[in-house]
Amino acid sequence: MTVEFLKTVEWVPLSPESLVPGKVRLIDQTRLPVSLEYLETDDVEEIWHAIKVLKVRGAPAIGVCAAMGLVAAVQNSSAVTSDRLIADARKKADYLASSRPTAVNLFWALARMMSVAEENVGMLPVQILVRMAEEANAIRNEDAAMCRSIGAHGVALLNEGDSILTHCNAGSLATAEFGTALAPIYTAKERGIGIKVFADETRPLLQGARLTAWELQHAGVDVTLICDNMAASLMQSGRISCVMVGSDRIAANGDVANKIGTYGVAVLAKYHGVPFYVLAPSSTFDVSLATGADIPIEQRDPVEVREIQGIRTAPSDVAVLNPAFDVTPAELVTAIVCEKGILRPAYGRRIAEMIAC
Ligand code: MRU
Repeated sequence: MTVEFLKTVEWVPLSPESLVPGKVRLIDQTRLPVSLEYLETDDVEEIWHAIKVLKVRGAPAIGVCAAMGLVAAVQNSSAVTSDRLIADARKKADYLASSRPTAVNLFWALARMMSVAEENVGMLPVQILVRMAEEANAIRNEDAAMCRSIGAHGVALLNEGDSILTHCNAGSLATAEFGTALAPIYTAKERGIGIKVFADETRPLLQGARLTAWELQHAGVDVTLICDNMAASLMQSGRISCVMVGSDRIAANGDVANKIGTYGVAVLAKYHGVPFYVLAPSSTFDVSLATGADIPIEQRDPVEVREIQGIRTAPSDVAVLNPAFDVTPAELVTAIVCEKGILRPAYGRRIAEMIAC
């Protein structure tokens, strides 16, 4: 069976004849699972805010949204010359890049968009916009294709009857479609392989409970939600066959930044002899960083820890730490699955070589 997905980010065309797209339309993931609502905008501040507050989130989806959002915002530019249009695009790209620091896909996508704009400086402004729209479409379509390939490679790691633990949401909602960590699960579903998923709820913002549980249920996958502190006990009782997670940035040595709590799950998996797999497209690798120690970790608003969905669960003035991500050392990762195949440690220069080819 084929699994159908909602479009995480898409265009709303200005008109059927228009050469450039109109607004960008995205699922407002802060409203899930209570209601399925969309944001439609061409306003750069609204796009920045959507990324900041996690209306759109997940490393690949952030990159896709920034690329499409940049075109949507720049097409309203009053610039009459190509130089001015490119200067306006640069200003807006730099602004969008300031929304969140950890997912490298954001900077990767914006760099691609600006290269295309700058390479075409001799063209008319409208032609540059058309080239930028084509590039944003390419980023979106390549992401969807990479996720399918990750699924095709990753499904080889699964067997009939397996139970997979996942953390945060690295599914269709976190990508153009199909997901990274959830891609082998969807591929297994399509191929009729019987598997089961345990989803960590993923405090503080509950991406596992709100998003992973929702999208897996929507796709007809057998999913059971657990609190984050239940994973150890499940592994101890032999109920987890493997862990599959996504990533926001992977350094040249294979260290992996992902949602806070991932490192703890990796330590648990190592102790219990459970394979720990990271699944990510090549746009998530940052081989300019030698190790994970150089990955910038986003610190978020303390209120996210003092409250759950707007309801206070702690003293209003208690001191709080709220790092959004942690770094799992490469030695705890059994394998990294990307669209090009499965990499196992020790990686040496293989990650940099794979990205280069
Ligand atoms: O803060 P978020 O929700 O953007 O964090 C998302 C994650 O940590 C995902 O696991 C990661 O971006 C991979 S998504 C394919």
